[in-house]
Amino acid sequence: MRRLTAEARLSVDDLVAPLFVKEGIDAPEPVVSMPGVVQHTQESLRKEVRALADLGIPAVILFGVPAAKDARGSGADDPDGVVQVALRNLRDEVGDDPVLMADDCLDEYTDHGHCGLLSASGEVDNDATLERYASIAIAQADAGADVVAPSGMMDGQVGAIRTALDASGHADTAILAYSAKYASALYGPFRDAAECAPQFGDRRGYQMHPANAREALDETAADLAEGADMVMVKPALAYLDVIASLRDAFDVPVAAYHVSGEYAMLKAAAANGWIDGDAVAREHLLAIRRAGADFVLTYLAREVAEHLQS
Ligand code: PBG
Repeated sequence: MRRLTAEARLSVDDLVAPLFVKEGIDAPEPVVSMPGVVQHTQESLRKEVRALADLGIPAVILFGVPAAKDARGSGADDPDGVVQVALRNLRDEVGDDPVLMADDCLDEYTDHGHCGLLSASGEVDNDATLERYASIAIAQADAGADVVAPSGMMDGQVGAIRTALDASGHADTAILAYSAKYASALYGPFRDAAECAPQFGDRRGYQMHPANAREALDETAADLAEGADMVMVKPALAYLDVIASLRDAFDVPVAAYHVSGEYAMLKAAAANGWIDGDAVAREHLLAIRRAGADFVLTYLAREVAEHLQS
């Protein structure tokens, strides 16, 4: 009866797996603050995506860790950059399914660790960064990305990317906008995994204040006006109200990112035997769905899919 009358459901169709691929390593490297998550080699990534496809996971999102970083994040749009190589490999491996998404940002590629180019005074230069994001989107689409996902929270990023994609023969490449991305303390483990902690300052100049929910509507409306196809709230559990209000206000697919810190807290408590990790994982993801997310980016994707299948 509970199954029949459930208002929300969690299925493998709702899961997107975030994956890290690192240049210049011979074997996958575990991410200590994210038990079960690794930095992949190109080869181990191929195998992982094949396994996720076999489980029926409909999409993956790739984050690259380049061997070398510089001020402008040159590896991000290099045709031979780590994510572009991965996209071509995976296209070859899996064909059209799963959907291949790529994070469009600079922080993994810049030596200073910020999501944009810096001005002479060391501030992130919003407008100069837009050209970089546009160029990254083209490189990713050329390499086979179905979806590009700008995560830097620069004003105008969606419009700049849409224009660039359309002008380069990629009108069919979709944009998943990180529209309501908060300046959260929950991204710490990701910064270990992607080796992208800012070398000075923080990201409060471009990411949203956790106090603000109405602002999320404004940010999302702007992204949609610029051509976003899908929008995202990030992190997830502390922002269920924001997910619900976006769901009410807009008719496009709404995604939520269950981020690294949310995953790490769950794994740490489960490892201590303080909670039932599997049960909490499913409860959390179901709650994110109930709040109104159509799909969830989560490091739990594989284990939850395996459980749902069994
Ligand atoms: C930025 C980016 C971040 C995450 C996804 N894209 C880090 C940040 O904003 O500092 C965090 C995801 C997570 O914590 O799981 N490219």
